[in-house]
Amino acid sequence: MRSVGILGTGSYLPERVLTNADLEKMVDTSDEWIVSRTGIRERRIASDEQASSDLAVEAAQRALDAAGITAEQLDLIVVGTVTPDMVFPATACLVQDRLGAKKAATFDVSAACTGFIYGISVAAQFIQTGVYKHALVIGVDCLSRITNYTDRNTCVLFGDGAGATVLGPVNEGEGFLSFELGGDGAGGHLLKQEGGGSRMPASQETVANNLHTIAMNGREVFKFAVRVIGSSAEEALSKAGLTKEDIDFLIPHQANMRIIDAAVDRLGIPKERTVVNLDRCGNMSSASVPVALDQAVQEGRIHKGDTVVLVGFGGGMTWGATVVKW
Ligand code: ACO
Repeated sequence: MRSVGILGTGSYLPERVLTNADLEKMVDTSDEWIVSRTGIRERRIASDEQASSDLAVEAAQRALDAAGITAEQLDLIVVGTVTPDMVFPATACLVQDRLGAKKAATFDVSAACTGFIYGISVAAQFIQTGVYKHALVIGVDCLSRITNYTDRNTCVLFGDGAGATVLGPVNEGEGFLSFELGGDGAGGHLLKQEGGGSRMPASQETVANNLHTIAMNGREVFKFAVRVIGSSAEEALSKAGLTKEDIDFLIPHQANMRIIDAAVDRLGIPKERTVVNLDRCGNMSSASVPVALDQAVQEGRIHKGDTVVLVGFGGGMTWGATVVKW
């Protein structure tokens, strides 16, 4: 099997900043509550003209430039998102057209906040088996478009952004060392957007009842997240023949600082080995992990030879982790 790794990363955040002070004017909340319960101080919000594909194209172009690969060289484009531009065509098709990646196969992955990890695990298989050589994997979400800004339980959490990676062949012993994916559909009711699908098509009633926005049981999701971040990271490390002492950087899904702290405690790794952008970006669903990864690369924190663990969890419920030798 061919070794496959990340050849380049890129990210894009919209310009508009929504601060906790802004939210104080919209719902009954406070900066103190949001920071102490979540660690979030501000998040980015897409402009009225921007949809997920617009954010994705910006991040993708940066990842292609970083990898030194042209769009024409891409064999596959996978987009992890729960906020596609539209139900179909897939956002990956819209991105392909905008980039001019004429020979690339295209599809979206729906695994909520784990969408990016699921996406890279799928794309990596095609490269490992020699079917394809270069894949673009994007995690993008415009959660502001499915957030109920009258619900203080959820609206303080979410933001918009896109992160991208170009995958391709690397030297033996480098790149992805393992993947660990999981799902538990029994927990699907804990985190969902019910309206607009085939069970509850859009109607005046679904709009009036706010069924096109995120509904969440925060406490249950919190407990689930703490459990699966630790267990999936440990499982991925074990599959790679490594232990938690080998982790140079842990890049977890960015949902809540208390979830990240609890997971880091469970793994027993020093806090400075964790990459966090939650304070500035909030929870960007599928984009959180690839944006944090790109920011760590841009800041020069990750060096050749480092062992990086990417770990996510989200609606479905879903979870996933991968160990990457940089
Ligand atoms: N401002 C002020 N008070 C608030 C706010 C707010 N923004 N939100 C909730 N409260 C209140 C509640 O109403 C409740 O009041 P009550 O006791 O009078 O009923 C009180 O604060 C405590 O509420 P809890 O739900 O117990 O607060 P908790 O400490 O659990 O924090 C939170 C809530 C931040 C949502 C936490 O549970 C969490 O982070 N859960 C995980 C969320 C997550 O990971 N989501 C992933 C989403 S991924 C995706 O959607 C694609």
